[in-house]
This record gives sequence, C-alpha cells and structure tokens, in this order.
Amino acid sequence: MSSPHFSVTATVDILRLAEESPYEDEAVNQLQHALQTAQRARDDGRDDVMIAAALLHDIGRAPAVLAHYGDGVHERIGGLFCAEHISERAAYLVGQHVPAKRYLVATDPTYGDSLSPASVRSLARQGGPMTPAEVAEFQSQPFHEEAAQLRRWDDAAKDGTAVTDELSSYEAVLHRVWVTRAQADLA
Ligand SMILES: [Fe+2]
Repeated sequence: MSSPHFSVTATVDILRLAEESPYEDEAVNQLQHALQTAQRARDDGRDDVMIAAALLHDIGRAPAVLAHYGDGVHERIGGLFCAEHISERAAYLVGQHVPAKRYLVATDPTYGDSLSPASVRSLARQGGPMTPAEVAEFQSQPFHEEAAQLRRWDDAAKDGTAVTDELSSYEAVLHRVWVTRAQADLA
C-alpha cells in the first residue's frame, strides 16, 4: 500500500477552501456544513473516528480530492479518501451517508419532514427510498446505526446562524485517527 496521499494539514486546507463553495442552495457554505455536522458528533460524545467522518463526509466534493481519486459520486470518493487515510469504519460511514438517507426515508415515516427541499429533490436521483431487500442488507452492516445517525446530523447541518467550534479544533482529532506512513507500509 502506498503512503497516504493527503496530510492532515492538506486536508484542513481543503476544508478551509470549502468556505468558498456554496452548499447547493442551502443557507450554509460547505465549510459551515462540515463544521456543523462534526459539532453534532462532538456534542453527542462520539469517538474520534465518528467525529472525523462527520467532518469529512462531503470531502468527496472537493476539487483536490476529486482530482486525485477520479470521477464518481461524492460519497464514494469520500469513502475512498477515508479508507486510505483513516479506517474502513470511517470509509463505511462516509460512503453510506447517501444510502443512509434512502434507508431513513424507507424506515422512518417522520424523516422526510426533516429534509430540505434540495435534499428532497436529490432523493429521486439517488435512487428513492430503499426497497425492503435493500433495507435488510443495510441493517446487516455492523455500523449501520452510526451511518444513519451521521445522516441525521448531515441533514440538520444547514443552519445559516449556527455557531460552531473552529476548524482548527479538529486538527488534533484528525491527527489521532490518521493512518501514518508506517501503518500504511505494514498494511
Ligand atoms: Fe452533507
């Protein structure tokens, strides 16, 4: 396995640049969206891997990440990023944040009310509600409840007035979970 491509510093720089990018037609930019998602994980007392996954769940939208991993839907690109830099669990949580929306629409009758208009519009493009077979498959995965929880934080992280911790407060979190060159060479 080659050494991880992006350093923590480079990743934080990518997130900082996301301040320039609107988040579809929501009231937040992409950095605010990432920080609000991570804040919910932090406030909920989750571990570093889940906080990092929340912070990075949309990293697959970043041009520098797309340029490295090639074309594809952003959750898949983000999953590849997290598999290389953090862990398979982080990769699963990020890679499943769109399927988790399809899961929640299929299984929670009140969930649809929490979706923004843009998120409702994108649902059809993303495949619509999961079928019963897809629900069963999703529920068979060990971290599916965490994936569904991350999705709920994602949906709520579109508040143009929310106050969050600074991006710099996550650098230590990322350093604790980041794959080191030595670990990558052993894998
Ligand atoms: Fe998101």
